[in-house]
Amino acid sequence: MKLPTAAAPLFAAVLATAQCTRPAEAPGGAGAAGAEPQFKTVATNDQVMDAIIIPNAQSIWDAVVYVDGKLVTAPKTDDDWYNLQMNAYAVAEAGNLLKIGARVKDNEDWVTFSTALTDRSMEAVRAAEKKDLQALLEAGGNVYNVCTDCHRKYVQADPNAADPPVPTVPGSN
Ligand code: HEC
Repeated sequence: MKLPTAAAPLFAAVLATAQCTRPAEAPGGAGAAGAEPQFKTVATNDQVMDAIIIPNAQSIWDAVVYVDGKLVTAPKTDDDWYNLQMNAYAVAEAGNLLKIGARVKDNEDWVTFSTALTDRSMEAVRAAEKKDLQALLEAGGNVYNVCTDCHRKYVQADPNAADPPVPTVPGSN
């Protein structure tokens, strides 16, 4: 068992070199390990919509319902609000998923809409945190507008794309 002891100083030297030559961490970015790990994207935009964005956004929109100006559905328990907050986090992070790999359609409006999806969903996160019904309704509407803005540019405008079903209008079902 000579090798480990003999190799140890060498290994330490390599580590020290690696630490010295590692580039400075990007602001707000690269995390504890330094370099970003490689992404392995597996879902299409359609599948990210179906798997993550649609069900979680729908939960936000279904949480507050008025019929004829009368509130008929609203979150009640701490669990209700917590679950809503998690729904909103899921949509917020999905904005990042849209900005990875083959899902990226361009580096301009696509990125703007994807970032807006994250930002508007974070308004819903904060509304759920504060258990603020009105803020949640507003945030839900703002999220909805990002969906339709992006679809107007990238789905409806594409004659080869299937016309996506318009999501249920928030609070109207
Ligand atoms: C950054 C752009 C973008 C945003 C934001 C976005 N979508 Fe999409 N969505 C797309 C594209 C592109 C497609 C079509 C994908 C395809 O056909 O390959 C799509 C497809 C869909 C479809 C059709 C899915 C199917 O099974 O055919 C639905 C429904 C949908 N999106 C809902 C939503 C909802 C709800 C939101 C907001 C909470 C949203 N999308 C936000 C770009 C976006």
